[in-house]
Amino acid sequence: MNRSVEFTGIRFHNPFLLSSAPPTESESNILRAFEAGWGGVVTKTIGLHPVVNVFGAKAKFMRTSPEDALVSMKKRPGAALHSSWNWELISDKTLDWWLPRIRRIKAAFPDRVLIASVMAGSGNDKELQNWQRLARECQDAGADGIELNFSCPHMDRRDMGSNIGKDQGLCSVVTEAVKEAATVPVWCKLTPATADIEVEAGACFRGGADAIVSSNTFPSIPLIDPETLEFEINVDGLVSSGGLGGPAILPQSLAKMAQLTRAFPDRSFSGIGGISDFSQALSYVLLGCGTVQVCTAAMLDQAVGPNVIKRLLAGLDAFLERNAERGWSGVEDFRGLRRDRIVPQSEIRRPDAADYHSGYEVAEGYAPPITAERQ
Ligand SMILES: Cc1cc2nc3c(=O)[nH]c(=O)nc-3n(C[C@H](O)[C@H](O)[C@H](O)COP(=O)(O)O)c2cc1C
Repeated sequence: MNRSVEFTGIRFHNPFLLSSAPPTESESNILRAFEAGWGGVVTKTIGLHPVVNVFGAKAKFMRTSPEDALVSMKKRPGAALHSSWNWELISDKTLDWWLPRIRRIKAAFPDRVLIASVMAGSGNDKELQNWQRLARECQDAGADGIELNFSCPHMDRRDMGSNIGKDQGLCSVVTEAVKEAATVPVWCKLTPATADIEVEAGACFRGGADAIVSSNTFPSIPLIDPETLEFEINVDGLVSSGGLGGPAILPQSLAKMAQLTRAFPDRSFSGIGGISDFSQALSYVLLGCGTVQVCTAAMLDQAVGPNVIKRLLAGLDAFLERNAERGWSGVEDFRGLRRDRIVPQSEIRRPDAADYHSGYEVAEGYAPPITAERQ
């Protein structure tokens, strides 16, 4: 039985990573995460521009229960987690703050994987050089790989985050610039807020990306309290679009991943969104992911998810044991096994197939539309 995986040329003790977010925003958290058993950690996104977060809470959790059917940030007994909502920006610590910490973390855990998430702007050469500088300095400090944040849905600058991830030209140009500077693997974390994510992924791959990471949070706003008529999170009564994570985004995130892995079956993907135990991680792996990442579930479990990683590892071990007679001894043996089960609606069997023409009426005198079966 083998928990380890090789992903973009990097060897991981196990395929479970903490994603770039509050669990990975400090040295002490990252050290605790490695002690707890996480195979890898992606740092909270590091940038070069000044970062000032909004007043008050940056992230909250929504819960629901069969008794009240509410989706609400209000804590009440018996309610189960629905999602996380946040409008937190990238790390408010400087690159100079991060670099010695990256060095110390790698010195303490040389065989654990530390990926530096980075973000700069776009639209001019200076910003491209900022991306290159971030990548170069993080890798020189010991980062095993670089994750490009093309995905934060609520940056306070228009030339950043998901606005890059929505523009295939920018995705390609920024990736190419970083690849010129990087000697370690480069992953691109894309926003799910586009129509066809394989378009932006293709642009990243053309720029030289070693992997695509998906999903960041989905654009969303908090609910309005029916009593006060105020948004459940607001500052002076005002709110702006933030990001949804956790269980609520699991099926949507899987759909994005299915689009990606079907479009690029031979490429590397890291899956994120709504993972808190092995059954959910398994869905991503069966679609073709080589690693998976966790945020919301870890935030709710002593800040770095010691119980979450324990469950993920135990789940993987039990799964491999259950399937040992199939000859499966590691993740590679079942990765991508269900990728090809996603087909166009018209290819799903009907009770009476003889009269079915892929949703079209067959007009007399015209050839029936071509279905995949008839091609
Ligand atoms: C409070 C908060 C802060 C986050 N900050 C970052 C960030 O700095 N960089 C990044 O790439 N993703 C960031 N994310 C997104 C997560 O890494 C992850 O992609 C998302 O939450 C979905 O995973 P989950 O369903 O496990 O939460 C953040 C998420 C939350 C909840």
